[in-house]
Amino acid sequence: MTVHLTNPPRSSGSRVAGLGHYQPPTTLTNDDLVAMGVDTNDEWVQSRVGIAERRFAMDETMLDMAVAAASKAMANSGVSPTDVDLVILATCTGKQQVPGGAAELASRLGIDSPGAYDLNAACAGFVYALNAASNTVTSGQAHTVLVVGSEKLTDYVDLMDRGTGIIFADGAGAAVVTASDSVGIGPVVWGSDGDSAGAITTDAETATLRQEGQSVFRWATSKMGDVALQACAAAGLEPSQLAGFVPHQANLRIIDLIAKKLNAPNVVVARDIITSGNTSSASIPIALSKMLERGEIASGAPVLLVGFGAGLTYAGQVILAP
Ligand code: COA
Repeated sequence: MTVHLTNPPRSSGSRVAGLGHYQPPTTLTNDDLVAMGVDTNDEWVQSRVGIAERRFAMDETMLDMAVAAASKAMANSGVSPTDVDLVILATCTGKQQVPGGAAELASRLGIDSPGAYDLNAACAGFVYALNAASNTVTSGQAHTVLVVGSEKLTDYVDLMDRGTGIIFADGAGAAVVTASDSVGIGPVVWGSDGDSAGAITTDAETATLRQEGQSVFRWATSKMGDVALQACAAAGLEPSQLAGFVPHQANLRIIDLIAKKLNAPNVVVARDIITSGNTSSASIPIALSKMLERGEIASGAPVLLVGFGAGLTYAGQVILAP
């Protein structure tokens, strides 16, 4: 006997309905790090990495920041807790392995028994989560999905390690994805390089984050420009048609080299790393949410997102601004 299972009706498209972000109030300059004993200096950090200051969470947990960012994204989208069918939390800095944080996040937001899961693709996590949300919506499995990237990297960073202590920071960004009659989230271009898994990793004994800075820099600058171009092509756009480009905020020199490869001088490029540091999966939604708040990108304009990081993993996708 052949059994036919039914599927829910598909949606023709998905879109980002709104974004929100949260950054902890405590700001540390490079000179503040020097005063704390870090063996560095402001000139080196600004010229090699592009960071002038970053935000560190003090009492806030990763989930506290996720709740704050998600609340703003829901308010900006005009979505209430009863509307949300699924919560995806992109993070690599949860306090414990089990349970993940998505169910508790939903509960703290007053969302009643949605689907809920965590996703760990490190600094590429937000784009992976956005793509998962979009696919879930277009398949008809959910109408409204809350996507959050939240990280408390300072729980895992040895501040005295010159290769990481100056770079990583804390924060959260969120987006609401809903069903749409037209396509507001383009196809993803993604990939990974597991042979280089050791390039960014946490120490098995101490759980401290370590990275091979130079090899990560070479990988990002040699590969991510092509990913950016491929994501534009997959969405059917020339780079010059973009209004904005929001790459993962890892290093200002990496951002500028990828932007150069796009060869689209009129595109607004996110350089939030200067005042926020590297917040892993939170860096793209924080930077994009701030660009929208500043009115730098018009509603409906195409924006390219490119995330990359530990795994190694990467993902690029063009979306239309809410
Ligand atoms: N402050 C001051 N000097 C520093 C320093 C610091 N924090 N870190 C290293 N240096 C010095 C080194 O001692 C060395 O000095 P020397 O030439 O006199 O021997 C010099 O700077 C170069 O050291 P190196 O380790 O080769 O630094 P780098 O130029 O590769 O920069 C990173 C280090 C981490 C900033 C850079 O490799 C990087 O950004 N990589 C990408 C990492 C990344 O994006 N990770 C996240 C991906 S999600």
